[in-house]
Amino acid sequence: MEITFAAPRDLQMIMALERECFAHPWSEEGILYELELSDSGVLAAREGTDIIGVAILRTLGDEGELYSIAVRESARRRGIGLSLLRRALRWAAGRGVRRVYLEVRRSNAAARALYKAAGFTVCGERKNYYDDPREDAVLMEAEV
Ligand SMILES: CC(C)(COP(=O)(O)OP(=O)(O)OC[C@H]1O[C@@H](n2cnc3c(N)ncnc32)[C@H](O)[C@@H]1OP(=O)(O)O)[C@@H](O)C(=O)NCCC(=O)NCCS
Repeated sequence: MEITFAAPRDLQMIMALERECFAHPWSEEGILYELELSDSGVLAAREGTDIIGVAILRTLGDEGELYSIAVRESARRRGIGLSLLRRALRWAAGRGVRRVYLEVRRSNAAARALYKAAGFTVCGERKNYYDDPREDAVLMEAEV
């Protein structure tokens, strides 16, 4: 497994991963926008010619926001999510980012455990932030 920056040519593989991992995946336009934006880091975990994990982190000055992270179901619990997240945080730190934020569904125990393992702590909540199903968001932050 190797982690590299994704490029627009990876769009269809990223979309396939998004559809596998999320009930409400990002649109192609949304992913392409991030791939082309210099302030956004889209990191891909690759195995052979396949993409088995993706992390998207957007930077704005000295702050960053983790927009998305997903690992193919068959590749989970192998440390790929943590490796992707650490690479994304290192990339952000190299651009002058000091603090990274994220939102996560309260019930998403796997993601919350991953974020905790990467050093994130809870810093707030947003009531009924998500739809379908309606659920609170937990806000987390980490210094990088
Ligand atoms: C969240 C997700 C990205 C984790 O990816 P992963 O590659 O399986 O995570 P890792 O193997 O790197 O796990 C690192 C640590 O996180 C924690 N963790 C990860 N998945 C966990 C789970 N299902 N239950 C409990 N802890 C978990 C553990 O502490 C784990 O370390 P360990 O395996 O040594 O115990 C993956 O479950 C996923 O794609 N979920 C669907 C998409 C999603 O919900 N994304 C987040 C919202 S944007």
